[in-house]
Amino acid sequence: MDDGSVRPPCRVIAVVNQKGGVGKTTTAVNLAAALAACGQSTLVIDLDPQGNASTGVGIPANRRKVGVYDVLIGECSLAEAVVKTEMPMFDIVPSTMDLSGAEIELVDMPGRERRLADALLEAKKQTKAFDYGFVLIDCPPSLGLLTLNALVAADGAFAPLQAEFLALEGLSHLKRTIDLVAERLNPRLNLEGIVITMMDRRIRLAEAVAADVRAHFGDIVYKAEIPRNVRVSEAPSHGKPVLLYDLNCAGSRAYLNLAREFLQREGLLPGGSAKKVAA
Ligand SMILES: Nc1ncnc2c1ncn2[C@@H]1O[C@H](COP(=O)(O)OP(=O)(O)O)[C@@H](O)[C@H]1O
Ligand SMILES: [Mg+2]
Repeated sequence: MDDGSVRPPCRVIAVVNQKGGVGKTTTAVNLAAALAACGQSTLVIDLDPQGNASTGVGIPANRRKVGVYDVLIGECSLAEAVVKTEMPMFDIVPSTMDLSGAEIELVDMPGRERRLADALLEAKKQTKAFDYGFVLIDCPPSLGLLTLNALVAADGAFAPLQAEFLALEGLSHLKRTIDLVAERLNPRLNLEGIVITMMDRRIRLAEAVAADVRAHFGDIVYKAEIPRNVRVSEAPSHGKPVLLYDLNCAGSRAYLNLAREFLQREGLLPGGSAKKVAA
């Protein structure tokens, strides 16, 4: 645009936590939907071979012709692999079955940890075909080569966390990994945000863990917490983000609050403070 209006550059966020079942996919899909609802064109890259994000937005395995695997091996461009979801401004690059072999296949490929970063760089040049304010990468539950590709491609990392026993240890491990990737491969990378998911304030341990995480990680922990909410867990089986499934449930409200806080931190909504970085 040359009219002087602020068009934010495309920001790439890796939704990451090496632990499974903490709410990565749920957060990638529902934060993306909430950002889209706030007027931000958003793309999810489903980098988990399980393909839960793809299924969860109504794109079953038999409808996925190309996916992020084809992008990683150089068979197609990222823009070519984009599929629209039911929701305006919310697109996805799906995962396909082949992705489960990618961790091994990539090992012998040149620039094996930069393949997604390169694909994104290429895509960002095609501003007509690839016009997103945000790209959220849904990572698999490990710190293998797929997650490494996400961390090398990302401008920032965002960690969903379930407030349970040993959550803080897991998060400290993740933080060290992010710092290592930042040092060696991607100086842009920071752990920018932590969101507490599946929160149940009736459980005393969850309260205590959440307080510990806030004490340890400070302002990078979002004020918005995602409560445990049955509508959130039902929505994927209907192929919808929770906002489309039940706009008024506690889960939808929480993800909208999270999106607003996210946009404040990005400087795109008033009320945010400057971006904080974990010490
Ligand atoms: N806020 C929530 N309330 C209820 N269930 C949730 C919530 N967030 C996630 N879940 C459920 O917990 C499970 C794990 O979440 P998921 O997002 O798939 O985790 P991950 O991607 O980290 O493995 C899923 O069955 C999901 O539906
Ligand atoms: Mg997942």
